[in-house]
Amino acid sequence: MTPDVALPEMTKTSDKTPRKILVTSALPYANGPIHLGHMLEYIQTDIWVRFQKQRGEICTYVCADDAHGTAIMLKAEQQHITPEALIERVHKEHLSDFESFSIDFDNYYSTHSEENKQLSQQIYIACRDQGFIAEREITQAFDAEKNLFLADRFIKGGCPRCKTPDQYGDNCEACGATYSPAELINPKSTLSGSKPIERQSTHYFFKLPEFTEMLKTWTRSGTLQEQVANKLAEWLDAGLQEWDISRDAPYFGFEIPGVEGKFFYVWLDAPVGYMASFKNLCDQRSDLAFDDYWAKDATTELYHFIGKDIINFHALFWPAMLSCAGFRTPTAIRAHGFVTVNGKKMSKSRGTFIRAGTYLNYLNPEYLRYYFAAKLNSTTEDLDFNLDDFLTRVNADLVGKVVNIASRCAGFINKRFSDQLSGQCSNIELFDEFVSAGVQIAQYYENLEIGKAIREIMALADKANQYIDEHKPWVLAKEPGKEFEVQSVCSVGLNLFRILMVYLKPVIPSTVTHAEHFLNIPPLTWDARKQLLLDHRINKFQPLMSRVEQDKIDAMITATAAEAAMEASKSSEDQIDIGSSLESNKTTDEKSPQINFDDFAKVDLRVARIIKAREVKGADKLLQLTLDLGSEYGEDHLRNVFAGIKSAYQPEELEGRLTVMIANLAPRKMRFGISEGMVLAAGPGGSDICLLAPDEGARPGMRIK
Ligand code: MSP
Ligand code: ZN
Repeated sequence: MTPDVALPEMTKTSDKTPRKILVTSALPYANGPIHLGHMLEYIQTDIWVRFQKQRGEICTYVCADDAHGTAIMLKAEQQHITPEALIERVHKEHLSDFESFSIDFDNYYSTHSEENKQLSQQIYIACRDQGFIAEREITQAFDAEKNLFLADRFIKGGCPRCKTPDQYGDNCEACGATYSPAELINPKSTLSGSKPIERQSTHYFFKLPEFTEMLKTWTRSGTLQEQVANKLAEWLDAGLQEWDISRDAPYFGFEIPGVEGKFFYVWLDAPVGYMASFKNLCDQRSDLAFDDYWAKDATTELYHFIGKDIINFHALFWPAMLSCAGFRTPTAIRAHGFVTVNGKKMSKSRGTFIRAGTYLNYLNPEYLRYYFAAKLNSTTEDLDFNLDDFLTRVNADLVGKVVNIASRCAGFINKRFSDQLSGQCSNIELFDEFVSAGVQIAQYYENLEIGKAIREIMALADKANQYIDEHKPWVLAKEPGKEFEVQSVCSVGLNLFRILMVYLKPVIPSTVTHAEHFLNIPPLTWDARKQLLLDHRINKFQPLMSRVEQDKIDAMITATAAEAAMEASKSSEDQIDIGSSLESNKTTDEKSPQINFDDFAKVDLRVARIIKAREVKGADKLLQLTLDLGSEYGEDHLRNVFAGIKSAYQPEELEGRLTVMIANLAPRKMRFGISEGMVLAAGPGGSDICLLAPDEGARPGMRIK
């Protein structure tokens, strides 16, 4: 049986009334895939939620896709689908990634929902009716070709200070200057290439400054981490500005009640998405009541886990609007830092802008959960995903220390004792020490010092291994009359292993589920660590986790670089340049990453003759080429290709020339037609572009190798 061990100093969590906690992670944008930067947040939140649930608290975790805004509207347009179709597809992809990483949402919804519309309008109307919405005309850049007002990131031009071309509308990446888009040299809309004009429009503003006192109190009431509170104090002291919450049609979002053709800015309804997702869950579950968690006088706890880039939305606008509309404010905001890879910002060209889906093709998700856990603390410091350290640490800790305890002990119990553990514990002191450590470890988890929790757990794992090393069951097993001792040492080892599984369960839940099956025990609660497994039959041991392999990491990086190259080849003049600056890790591309021979061998490079070249109406960089790969190539030897070389060549001078093309590039739909390949050219651009040409003797269709 499994008696409770008396530990008077410990309070039993099971006796107290459970806390009621609602937890959220930031809602990922529905215009792109989940990458490992995002995963840090979902993993951190999920560990905390799993920890609370394991302790018997009533903890609910909701999230959703952030489905509105210009970027999503344009992306859908680019793909010739409706925004609804786009967000539905992305929702499935996001959910599948989250499930694979064991992110255990109680509900994963969308901001494009009836509940969200209703709640957003309710909050807006409450603010409006109390006089907290201002209305005034503003002047904004407008793309007359696309019929759209342009946010700063959709305008590019020369920096007014250092003259570097191709800078975004609000700041220069070369010299760091900040300016307004009107100051750019030769500004262009990134959507159509046309010159933006200025246009007036009525906008609606939330009167944030009126909430300054309320926010000063709220931000100082233990709701924020120290660094974050300091940042907020700076903003509050500098004085708050009214917040523009409206956007003009066309916009994918909710229309503002009472004003036609105006929509809520995506950031107004995004945080309301937390409430809406929870409301949707309440409608499915009788044990949860919406008002318990959102009414003004709610006594439950509410936590928002977010990245440090979106603090202003969560610690200024959000609490102000909630309190204005008569809802409760969050108990705390938990902000984390950014993921870097090998010490640098995630980068497409370095192959480190790793998608969750790509990672999953090569590596076990629990490795990443563990690695992030081991490096997480409660601050907003960035976290480096160092690939060498990742391999070393996961192999040394999880495989080398933790799983090893089980594999060292299980064989003897399985083979020599018909799977049966001893009837008594021969080292109760060590067992007690492991159980008591749970108090400190729990405190670390609670305070989001997850890295410290992991260090404690690994120190215990070292102790367990040391115990086994000292008692050497493999030596005892060869000595006559020591049977009983072998069983007893291995039983202690497995009991210690069981406690480690309790502590690691929030971090590596799927591995622990396998361990529970191996130990033949019900799901491990936090309190269950106090129980001893005596006279208990275990199952046959199966390896719980394999080592991280270097070649898998390499393959993941190569695949990521290949994805980036594909993406880059897709973007050309006619393809709208949207949203790249929306991604949390802007990339400035340096040298190309290394590829292996197989990658190269996939590219079908051929000599081709340009038989026709002409200008493309409405495109200022493109020429349309008809290329002939020669009859040897077969049926599809004639190709229509759009090439961005107009600034360097007159069409006539190209006709008849030989060049080099990629013949097996998938056809791409461009604004002007289908492009069926690419020609190779060198140079920085403008008039400085050189089309590659083969040496004499080359014939169309010849393969380049
Ligand atoms: N849609 C908004 C959030 C709305 S919440 C009401 C958004 N989406 S996002 O997809 O850009 O980011 C989602 C979360 O992932 C944010 O908390 C963001 O900080 C986090 N991260 C995105 N890139 C990250 C890293 N490279 N590293 C760590 N976290 C990162 O913002
Ligand atoms: Zn500049």
